[in-house]
Amino acid sequence: MAEENKSSLEPLAALCKRRGFIYHSSEIYGGIPGFWDYGPLGSEFKRNVKDAWWQFTVRGREDVAGLDATIIMHPKIWKASGHLDTFADPMTMCKECKKLMRADQIKDIYEEQKKKPQPKIAGADFFCPYCGGELTEPKPFNLMFKTIVGPIEDPSNVAYLRPETAQAIFAQFTNVLSTSRQQVPFGIAQMGKSFRNEVTPRNYTFRSREFEQMELEFFIRPDEAIEILYGHVVTLADNPDLDGEVQQDWGWEVWHKYWVEQRKKFLNAVGLPSERFVEYWQKPDELAHYARACVDIEYDFPFGRQELEGIAARSDFDLSQHQKHSGEPQSVFDDPLKQAAKKMDEQARAAFIEKVQKDWVSRGKDAEEAKKFCEDLFNGRYIPHVIEPSAGVDRLMLALLCEAYEEQKLTDDKGKEDIRTVLHFSPKVAPIKVAVFPLIKKDEATYKIARELFNKLRKKVNCFWDESGQIGRRYRRQDEAGTPWCITVDPQTVEDGTFTVRDRDSMQQERLTYEQFLVKMTEALEF
Ligand code: GAP
Repeated sequence: MAEENKSSLEPLAALCKRRGFIYHSSEIYGGIPGFWDYGPLGSEFKRNVKDAWWQFTVRGREDVAGLDATIIMHPKIWKASGHLDTFADPMTMCKECKKLMRADQIKDIYEEQKKKPQPKIAGADFFCPYCGGELTEPKPFNLMFKTIVGPIEDPSNVAYLRPETAQAIFAQFTNVLSTSRQQVPFGIAQMGKSFRNEVTPRNYTFRSREFEQMELEFFIRPDEAIEILYGHVVTLADNPDLDGEVQQDWGWEVWHKYWVEQRKKFLNAVGLPSERFVEYWQKPDELAHYARACVDIEYDFPFGRQELEGIAARSDFDLSQHQKHSGEPQSVFDDPLKQAAKKMDEQARAAFIEKVQKDWVSRGKDAEEAKKFCEDLFNGRYIPHVIEPSAGVDRLMLALLCEAYEEQKLTDDKGKEDIRTVLHFSPKVAPIKVAVFPLIKKDEATYKIARELFNKLRKKVNCFWDESGQIGRRYRRQDEAGTPWCITVDPQTVEDGTFTVRDRDSMQQERLTYEQFLVKMTEALEF
């Protein structure tokens, strides 16, 4: 991290530590790089971010089912997915100072170091960015954490902590399909811990070794099946309405763009305005060999523009791999497709096969396989394709924290300047929704009402009680926690039941009844 950028994350990191959002893991032992703990406010915030995603992605839709699978799975899963063979960073070591580093990050390290040392071997263009020494040949380093299952430390008992939540979704695809009454197109969503032995965990929680992901695998019909069913495939060139109901005749590129738009809507809803992130469409040479498209949603973090999450169109690669490695069929039976194919005569089928073969061959695929694929389609069978929106909980939390953080310069009536530190969280993710204060602690009547109000509200949302210090100080404490509303119960409450509600962002106060406040809060918390 460059020095000037480091400094811009520092006030936020200091606030997060001071107010109990984020601590170093195992801090009393000096911490452990790439591991972070969430404190009282951080754990509430995290829960809200995850709940928001679950509500938006699973409960708010009819076509997505949830899954909660184990972290350690059969090691063959990682062979099938490719992680065992290819989930690696290229590592190199300086033969002189013995520093270990990622070969693909050497350029960045040169820049971070500001001044490049002279190479000790004249003319070398790949040398240690710290001392100029000679570097070893880069070697792949697998990022998966290994463990042993059972009491015997034998290679046959090696298992891995999952590096992504996605693979469990593929491995449980047929179970979910047969127990959830879903039919393609539909999705399976999962959130939970993932582990990557990152060589250089950095930028606070941005790249950690233990983190959480929120992933959706949305299974769709192959375009060729849609062609048989509807006689056409809707593409982006047809300008489909991505804000309306999803349509059965959408092809993969429309589904992909639809999910990019859905993810952007979600980010807006939890507090990231559209102008604060960009879509990066990976170029053909950047795509994995099986992927048809991949969009990274990038956010301008204080340390630079970086990937927040990704939305990939992964074809039928994952389910095909699991079918191949497990020997268990992963195809689905699609009766409407079979019925539609029945209406095609021999000539139409032959023409269809020829068209598909041409398309497959133009994409470097095998003509015979294309024929077999078409014949399966005529019988109503195919392996679903998948669109994968994949997000990191911690990375999104960091973006929301960066977005919310503000140091406001305020001047009071007497011209005195002051700094107000405030987290402008969306109420949907704010760790504390409302704080309740009795104006005067010693006034029995107001104190009792305030306490009753607090007890009523905390049955609904996370509330905070504060009776100490001046009201102004109490407001400031809540501003730093990102609490959207502060309620103060005063003598007028005893007379007419209204209390003041102070808005965090405008700092304006209004008098509301309990019912009026509930309406206001409920509206702000709803998706
Ligand atoms: N299943 C696809 C997949 O895992 P990825 O781009 O490797 O794709 C998806 O990860 C998201 O997970 C990233 O966009 C990021 O938000 C989060 N993520 C990945 N590695 C991370 C790390 N080391 N620390 C924190 N978040 C990470």
